[in-house]
Parts: sequence; C-alpha cells; structure tokens
Amino acid sequence: MMRPASPLFLAAALAVGLPGGAFAQSWSDQPVDPSADHPNVPVAYEDGGRYYTEDDIPTYNIAEDGTVDWLTFSGFRRYHSECHVCHGPDGEGSTYAPKIKNSAVHMDYYSFYDTVVNGRANGNSVMPHFGDNQNVMCYLDDIYVYLKARGMDAIPRGRPAKKDAKSDMIQEMEDACMG
Ligand code: HEC
Repeated sequence: MMRPASPLFLAAALAVGLPGGAFAQSWSDQPVDPSADHPNVPVAYEDGGRYYTEDDIPTYNIAEDGTVDWLTFSGFRRYHSECHVCHGPDGEGSTYAPKIKNSAVHMDYYSFYDTVVNGRANGNSVMPHFGDNQNVMCYLDDIYVYLKARGMDAIPRGRPAKKDAKSDMIQEMEDACMG
C-alpha cells in the first residue's frame, strides 16, 4: 500500500530532482478543471488555419456548432494511428500508459514535445522515441492540440463530426515536412 508522501519528502524530492518520469508522469493523474485558467489553452490569434496562444503555443479552436479546426481533426486521426495502442482511445489512458489528454493540458508544450521526440523510461514503463518518425513528427502539433481539446472536454470522445477545411498553408507545411 502506498502512503501519501509527506511534505518533507516532497520538498526533498523536488530539491534533489527525482530521476525518471516519477514526477512528470503525475501530470496525467492530475484532474483538469475546464473552468480554471490554463495559460496554454485560450486562442490569441489565427495564422493560416492554425491557432495559437499569446505565447505562440499551438492550440485548438472549436466553433459553437462543434466544428473543429483542421489540426484538431488531423490530430484525432494521427493519435489513433500512432499513440492509442498504448495510451488508449481518445487519450483516456490504459493500464499500461498514462492518460495523456490530461498531460497535454498540464505539461509545458516543450516538455510534451521533448518526451515524444526522445522518449522516456521509468523502469519497465517505456515511452518510445518518435524523433525519427515523420508520421508523428510532422503531425505532433496536431496530436498535441487534439489531446488538449480532449483534456479540456472541449470535444467529446470519438471522431469529430465537423471540421474546417485544410488550409493551403497547412498543406504546404505538411509537404515541406514530409519532404
Ligand atoms: C509502446 C507504447 C507507447 C506508445 C506507442 C506511445 N506511448 Fe507515450 N508513453 C508510454 C508510456 C509507458 C509512458 C509513461 C512513461 C514513464 O513512465 O515515464 C508514456 C508517456 C508519455 C507522455 C508523458 C505523459 C506525462 O504525463 O508525463 C507523453 C506526452 C506521451 N507519452 C505522448 C505520446 C504520444 C503523443 C504518442 C504517439 C505519437 C505516444 N506517447 C505513443 C507508452 C507509449
């Protein structure tokens, strides 16, 4: 049985820095309150069909009638071809891998990226690295914004019914990335 960590233990662990994913992994266990302020969520501007926060972090945009931006839709598809085998449908997590819909809200964008590019291992719990996989790397923003939308309950589970068209700019970036 696990005892709750004492504040003293937490302070010591923070000071030393726990190895492995022991701390980072807990992002997925932290519930998301969609009504709270999450600085990596609100749209500040749009650029060629892609949406960004005021810190230039990619984010999702869901219209009142439920139409999702292209990246969110694309992320749904890419997630389910590359990540769902471990992380479960709709980012809900599995007995094997964490609930990354929550991680996408709580984790810093660059740490999220870094985890996917380089992978991570915590004993037998292994997140593979995808840095050399174009089918992931060229669509990582898509996967990230899709998961963030799921974490914030901005979209229901399953395939988004309505989506924006793919913009020319998104197409051009994809072609350039896929080479
Ligand atoms: C082979 C199984 C597997 C696949 C496929 C996989 N993951 Fe993971 N992932 C894991 C495991 C296991 C962990 C937990 C690692 C640990 O304990 O540190 C993890 C952790 C993560 C984390 C850190 C979560 C947190 O809260 O710290 C992110 C982000 C992540 N994965 C994203 C992805 C994305 C995006 C994809 C698809 C491109 C993906 N993973 C595909 C097994 C997988």
